[in-house]
Amino acid sequence: MAEYDLAVRGGVVATGFGTTRCDIGIKGGRIVALAERITDAESILDAGGLLVLPGGVDTHCHIEEPARGGYTSAQEGAPPPEVTVQEESFVSASTSAFAGGTTSVVCFVPQWKGEGLLPRLADYEQRAARGMLDYSFHQIIADPFPGVLEEEVPQIVAKGIRSLKVFLTYEPLHLSDEQYLRVLIAARRHGCLVTVHCENYAAINWRTEALLKAGLTAPKYHAWSRPPVVEREATHRAIALAELVDQPIQVFHVSCAEAAEEIARAQHRGVKVWGETCPQYLALTAEDMDRSSPEHGGFAGAAFMCSPSPRSREEQAKVWEMIRRGTLDVVSSDHCGFSMGKPGAGKQASGRDAAFRDIPNGIPGLAARLPILFSEGVSKGRIGLDEFVRLTASNPARLMGLPGKGAIAVGADADLALWDPAKKVVLTNALMQHAIDYTPYEGLEVTGWPVATLRRGAVVMRDGVVQAEPGTGRFLPRPPYAYIRPHGVLANGFDAAPPL
Ligand code: URP
Ligand code: ZN
Ligand code: ZN
Repeated sequence: MAEYDLAVRGGVVATGFGTTRCDIGIKGGRIVALAERITDAESILDAGGLLVLPGGVDTHCHIEEPARGGYTSAQEGAPPPEVTVQEESFVSASTSAFAGGTTSVVCFVPQWKGEGLLPRLADYEQRAARGMLDYSFHQIIADPFPGVLEEEVPQIVAKGIRSLKVFLTYEPLHLSDEQYLRVLIAARRHGCLVTVHCENYAAINWRTEALLKAGLTAPKYHAWSRPPVVEREATHRAIALAELVDQPIQVFHVSCAEAAEEIARAQHRGVKVWGETCPQYLALTAEDMDRSSPEHGGFAGAAFMCSPSPRSREEQAKVWEMIRRGTLDVVSSDHCGFSMGKPGAGKQASGRDAAFRDIPNGIPGLAARLPILFSEGVSKGRIGLDEFVRLTASNPARLMGLPGKGAIAVGADADLALWDPAKKVVLTNALMQHAIDYTPYEGLEVTGWPVATLRRGAVVMRDGVVQAEPGTGRFLPRPPYAYIRPHGVLANGFDAAPPL
């Protein structure tokens, strides 16, 4: 019997801390050897002329997420109807992820107001188990009543779900400051990271009302309804309250320098806050929402609507700078698939003439994440290869506590992307291999492309052909965080997190 199941030979291995030309020996789904030459293997995968990267770890993906309406600004007290807003299934999302070199994800278990966590978790566990990606969950907390925080959160933590997700905007998901504080305190007590969508709900509503009253309803006014100050204020508040409680948070989808600077300032004070950004803030602008098309007319801009809004070219340059400084240390996709062309569903849930307020926010990006970041970042000289690996794999795995993921090292899962750094590809929706009817990156030329993806040693994508059995993805239970101290004296001098 051969010593290894598979040897990946002749590639340049990028670890995030330098590159080395070596072979990789894989057995039982794990990396068991890194050596100059490995010959004794059942099969050989030639990586000559290619980079070998850790499989992408995308820790912010909305997949098959049943929700009440879309992620819209919708009117207070008038929540939209109940639908599964993401048209993507775990099977189609897995296919798309593998096509783009990503091998594991963290996605979102919903909570609907007035309900507990566990019934929806049971349903979501079943959905996720049908896919091929390895996965973990963030638990959305949309209604933090005592039974949820005191009884259910410890139960989900016992299952290895160690991050809670909260929204400071969106109807009906947004939390008040007091509710957010309660979540922070519960998270600290039970050892969870809190991830936060930072935008000011009241400010967005006020601007939205004014825009709609003036008859300014088109998709482009989405950006007008939520300028950077709205994000900066909520980021500041989210951090300040987390600092008060001494609870680590990750600020999701940072789109602008003003918000990133709030994070940088807090990091300098020693606050445990991390910042994530996404390709849409590096490759799209608010002007994209001003597009028209023969197919979708004036509605075409809806394809680019996400929150926070894409900004300007100048802002993109500042976000790159905050990446280079290390303030933003994770790049996720925030994949959130709503098709454009289905009347009564997806982006058209409220109809083709819907005002921007009622158009679901979110864009698909699972497959595009690595190619865009590699091309716009590494190929264009904005970041180095090490940074790319850390932003897309090592840092998200470390921050979320996913041992065995995001690393090319002996003992790690053999999750790999074999990458042609010189290949030029024009992005099309077909290449994304998702279930959504468009990609916001249609026509973008990228330099650098995945030619094979391995998940736990199995070749699941080669030359664009995805082959993986549904139901083979594994749940990734997460161990306790080293940087969360659930009990004891707080850094800011208080004795313990007081009950609110
Ligand atoms: O517009 C976005 N980002 N939609 C997805 C939900 C969220 O806010 O993360
Ligand atoms: Zn969000
Ligand atoms: Zn999101």
